[in-house]
Amino acid sequence: MFDCKKKYSNKKFRKNIQLRSKAYFKIKKINERFSILKNYCSVLDIGCSPGGWGEYFKNKKIKYTGIDLKKTPFIFGLNFIKGDLFKYSSIKKIFDFLGKPELVLSDLCPNLSFYNKINHKNILKKMIEIIFILLKKGGSFVFKSMSYIKISNFFLNYFENFFYFITKKNSSEIYYICKKFK
Ligand SMILES: C[S@@+](CC[C@H](N)C(=O)[O-])C[C@H]1O[C@@H](n2cnc3c(N)ncnc32)[C@H](O)[C@@H]1O
Repeated sequence: MFDCKKKYSNKKFRKNIQLRSKAYFKIKKINERFSILKNYCSVLDIGCSPGGWGEYFKNKKIKYTGIDLKKTPFIFGLNFIKGDLFKYSSIKKIFDFLGKPELVLSDLCPNLSFYNKINHKNILKKMIEIIFILLKKGGSFVFKSMSYIKISNFFLNYFENFFYFITKKNSSEIYYICKKFK
C-alpha cells in the first residue's frame, strides 16, 4: 500500500529546494506534457496537503481551491478547505467558493487512520460521483491510481480524450488524464 508519509520523509530534499513536497514535480510534468491548464481558470485540487501542487499553481492566473482531510498551510492567493471530500458539506463549500470547476485534480491516497476500508477502487467510484456533480462541461479531470485499471472505455464515454501517464520510471502511481467532459 502506498504511504503518503514515506513519500515526504526526505527532509534534505525539501530543505534544498524549499518545496513542500516532491508532488510539485509530478504536476509540473503532467502540465508540461498535457497542457492541462490551457484555457481553464478554475481548479479544484483534491487531496491537496501539504501543498506541493498548490505551490505549482500559486503564480498562475487561476481561481484555486484545494481540499484535504489535513490542514494545508497557507499559500497566498489560494483557498484551502480542511474537510472530507466525501461529505456533502465539503462539496457545498467547494461549490460556494468555486462554482463548477473547469479542472479537477485528484492526488488522493487512502489515509489509513481515517479510512481503513476505503481502497483505490472505492475512491475512484466516489471520484466519479463527484465529477458528475461538480465538473463543468468541457472541463478536464486528472486523477491518480495505484495500479492500471481498465477504465478507458468508461471514461471515453464521458470525455473526448483519455490518456495515462507515469511520472517516474518504476513508479506504482499512474495518473489518468481525461479531457473535455461531454
Ligand atoms: C499524496 S497526498 C497529496 C499530496 C499533494 N498533491 C501535494 O501536492 O502536496 C494525498 C492526500 O489525500 C488526502 N486524503 C485522503 N483521503 C481524503 C478525503 N476523503 N478527503 C480529502 N483528502 C483526503 C490525504 O490526507 C493526503 O494528504
